[in-house]
Amino acid sequence: MTDTVPSTAESHAPDEAHPEGPAALTFAPSPEFARQANATADLYAQASADRSAFWAEQARTLLSWATPFEEVLDWSGAPVARWFADGRLNAAYNAVDRHVEAGNGDRVAIHFEGEPGDTRTITYADLQREVSRAANALGALGVGTGDRVAIYLPMIPEAVVTMLACARIGAPHSVVFGGFSSEALRSRIDDAGAKLVVTADGGYRRGAASPLKPAVDEAVAAGTPTVEHVLVVRRTGGDVTWTKGRDVWWHDVVDTASDKHTPVDVEAEHPLFILYTSGTTGKPKGIFHTTGGYLTQAAYTHRNVFDLKPETDVYWCTADVGWITGHSYVVYGPLINGATQIVYEGTPDTPHRGRWWELVQKYGVTILYTAPTAIRTCMKWGEEIPGGFDLSSLRVLGSVGEPINPEAWTWYRRVIGGDRTPIVDTWWQTETGAIMISPLPGVTTTKPGSAQVPLPGIAAEVLDDDAQPVANGQAGYLVLTEPWPSMLRGIWGDPERYADTYWSRFRGLYFAGDGAKKDEDGDIWLLGRVDDVMNVSGHRLSTTEIESSLVSHPSVAEAAVVGATDETTGQAVVAFVILRADAVTAGRPVEEVQQELRQHVARQIGPIARPRQVLVVPELPKTRSGKIMRRLLRDVAEHRQVGDATTLADSSVMELISAGLAAPK
Ligand code: PRX
Repeated sequence: MTDTVPSTAESHAPDEAHPEGPAALTFAPSPEFARQANATADLYAQASADRSAFWAEQARTLLSWATPFEEVLDWSGAPVARWFADGRLNAAYNAVDRHVEAGNGDRVAIHFEGEPGDTRTITYADLQREVSRAANALGALGVGTGDRVAIYLPMIPEAVVTMLACARIGAPHSVVFGGFSSEALRSRIDDAGAKLVVTADGGYRRGAASPLKPAVDEAVAAGTPTVEHVLVVRRTGGDVTWTKGRDVWWHDVVDTASDKHTPVDVEAEHPLFILYTSGTTGKPKGIFHTTGGYLTQAAYTHRNVFDLKPETDVYWCTADVGWITGHSYVVYGPLINGATQIVYEGTPDTPHRGRWWELVQKYGVTILYTAPTAIRTCMKWGEEIPGGFDLSSLRVLGSVGEPINPEAWTWYRRVIGGDRTPIVDTWWQTETGAIMISPLPGVTTTKPGSAQVPLPGIAAEVLDDDAQPVANGQAGYLVLTEPWPSMLRGIWGDPERYADTYWSRFRGLYFAGDGAKKDEDGDIWLLGRVDDVMNVSGHRLSTTEIESSLVSHPSVAEAAVVGATDETTGQAVVAFVILRADAVTAGRPVEEVQQELRQHVARQIGPIARPRQVLVVPELPKTRSGKIMRRLLRDVAEHRQVGDATTLADSSVMELISAGLAAPK
């Protein structure tokens, strides 16, 4: 390792996981799988012979264009790319209508399973009618091409339908994860200037109805001047407060609308959606994606990385549509490819810890795509749980969201994949829109824990501090060296922040924010973030955002947050706070204040941001220029010997912190 990659990243270093070296354990594709695979090694050769021709061919074969494109890539406005810019198309037509027109209207698009056990089977023909009704209803509510729509829904079919209805009329959607707080929702609605919010009375989570609409009411009351209507799906039947004139029921306006609607063809570069993600500052970034390039790469990766055969496969991606994985691999990729998929509303352990495996057995799932944190949780629950179900239908397993440790990888393959299935560890980001680095099943000999190689058509490199490619065996920073079709087109309303965040560290190259290592074969191993972004259960959280939330509490004078290694969630949020003198003297037990602060963050940002621990300290370690040295706090949070503290303004601070934490309460 070079010393450029900080210590959080080192916990995933391949050397540590694999004392014998990465070549010790590999899995070659079986000849039977390779024989039937969609992808062949030839794809790499085709793409490197002519990248532009390669992507043009993908765009032409995987999508239906209302107006075919001539131009492939225009990079003259770098770092904003234009792909297929003179072509026109509609995303919903591609995802739904054309399958019906091709005679596949009876194919199941979605097997929906609600957490309480209610089910719905939605064919492509059903989906066409439902999306058309919703598109007509959106139009009647005054939403037109170019208007933004915020979506705050549970994982129910209406979430997919609403996204497609927006796409159908060319209204960019901005999905906000249902676990985010009303304040997080408000700031996202406001930043996008959404005209409509689509929500539900609630959804089912962990065996209970959990309300959603109150958060929308609060958000809108707190100030979202652009919102004209709130469209509400009845899911749980719980009580809701109603604002006359503003709120409308889905069953009143969608179910009664005409099921005929002509999709609006848009330019390939028309924005398809905005999705907010955490950056290194407190303000979430509205990453926006456009239509033609995004859909091309979503469909291409979905077909080749998962080896999708739409006629026979039953595909299941466990992600929520509130995240990019749900956008690209629940909605757009699978539906563009005409897949049959499972949409499950709830948690893996409701009503029992075998729920996922029961669903795999029930529907004969063949392709499963999930996150390492879920795999590690299942490992903890014990292999006898999945062992109690018939998982023999599975033939490809995918992983996404964070580095997968070799133990979890091999467990996944052995216990879930019956020692038979290829595993694809897929590296990508909200910003990249679709998978970038991943093995190809049937082609790549896989190594547990490594995402390995850029896909055909994608160019990546690992650079050192001086922007030179590292030698094999060395670590550095992951960059993408050529534009790709599904790349973000910017940060909504903030082109400067886009250029600064991604394109300034290594001029002209996209800096992903991740550390990576090239092994002796040149294969890539992801090492985690190198910036102030944490990854908790595959979800991105900003240290600064949580720090701002903590200091907004009246008891807190200062706060520093770190992501500490956690066996199950990858990283966990650990906060160090200095309390205000009046809070300390108020005589309340420290435990009570700590609990209150954890709750405060959960309320302000969302339960996923709730710190695992809040540690009360007398000082924070700072450099002479006032920068908090999170590296040292991470050592404390991970119970390690505290590292080099010589650059601290006051070198005794760490002793003070350690002594304070060790002292009995
Ligand atoms: O650090 C990388 C990690 O997740 C970050 C992107 O997070 P987000 O935009 O929320 O998208 C998650 C789903 C695509 C990356 O910068 N990450 C994602 N996939 C992997 C990964 N780290 C290692 N291995 C992966 N397969």
